[in-house]
Amino acid sequence: MTDSPPADRPSADVSQGARPYSPGLEGVIAGETSLSFVDGERGRLIYRGYRIGDLVEHGTYPAVANLLWTGDWDAGHHLPTAPVPAEVLTVLRALPSTTKPMDALRTAVSAWGATQDLPWPPTVEQARALTAFVPSALAAFARLRAGQEPVEPDPSLDLVPGFLYQLTGSRPDEGTARALDAYFIVGSEHGFNASTFTARVIISTRSDIASAVAGAIGTMKGPLHGGAPSEVVDQLAEVGSADHAEQWVRDALAKGERLMGFGHRVYRAYDPRAKALRTVAEGMAHKPDWLQLAIEVEDVALRVLAEKHPDRPLKTNVEFYAAPVLMGVGLTPDLFPATFSLARTAGWTAHALEQAANNRLIRPDVNYVGPEERDLPS
Ligand code: ACO
Repeated sequence: MTDSPPADRPSADVSQGARPYSPGLEGVIAGETSLSFVDGERGRLIYRGYRIGDLVEHGTYPAVANLLWTGDWDAGHHLPTAPVPAEVLTVLRALPSTTKPMDALRTAVSAWGATQDLPWPPTVEQARALTAFVPSALAAFARLRAGQEPVEPDPSLDLVPGFLYQLTGSRPDEGTARALDAYFIVGSEHGFNASTFTARVIISTRSDIASAVAGAIGTMKGPLHGGAPSEVVDQLAEVGSADHAEQWVRDALAKGERLMGFGHRVYRAYDPRAKALRTVAEGMAHKPDWLQLAIEVEDVALRVLAEKHPDRPLKTNVEFYAAPVLMGVGLTPDLFPATFSLARTAGWTAHALEQAANNRLIRPDVNYVGPEERDLPS
């Protein structure tokens, strides 16, 4: 402890002197994890040591979720979607049809938490139950807002085909289910991103896993985190054709706009998730007709971004090729961010387990930059 500073000292000294401060916590190590390693310089992503490309090729979302929760690789791990409790359905039915899917999902998770006994510390069973619940909740909301009744889970289906079944009322073909499963795998975990950090902060107070995931959904709702793929679709529609790509990109950057699906806080190399999803998108039977345009726009955007930011490499991120995959499996763009949240629930809940296993309340300091202590005006 230091003595109180004299009253005429500048305000910054009041708080803490010259400790390092990194806006946005960029580059700050705020914890330890054995769940994933995001190697931004070399463009690598591993989950518990396994390469993301191998997991997409040989794994399924349930197997990957189980790997994240337990550390064990069980390629045949089965995880069906879970029924939506009646109380949660009542809440979803009460929402206006104009409710945004992310708001509905956040509300559903909160309502689900209110119907469960979720003692601290969180358990693998809690993680599994919540991860199996969220697809059913989103599917139920999507149907209710369209004037349709929710579809009960089919326990014989794994989580991703089960979600598509509950959304559409029919079983998806294998290629469609496989493409969305790949998206879920690459979306399931990614280090200390903003929403995961939110979840860990919440768990660190010994709050419950539903509160952690509801908070994480709120964080993911922002366009800088989870809203990008639907904006990729809008931007490609504005570009219209490959001949206009260069002019459009230059005009957008001149106006100070950001190109959706490019740039990343950690990756300085090409995002390995974008690479995996581009392969998936190109192999889809029902790929959107603008996929070729997307590939051409990407080439132009990478060239122009490199020209404008020679010192800060801005490459394609996962959201750019998430857009054609999600569109190709039949999802509407307004469901994209919430679908990302379904996938990330495995990671959020795995982080909840990891945080609780070695818990320390997350409570950083802040530089005080306000006025020096003073008297209230009389
Ligand atoms: N388009 C144009 N310029 C960009 C972009 C972009 N997509 N991303 C960064 N820049 C520019 C910034 O304007 C800034 O320029 P300046 O130095 O002249 O001001 C410079 O590059 C550095 O950008 P930062 O803001 O420091 O980058 P930060 O690490 O904070 O941002 C982010 C990362 C938010 C992802 C950013 O790249 C962005 O907004 N991208 C578009 C949105 C997007 O695709 N989001 C999805 C991210 S992936 C995910 O969440 C799963």
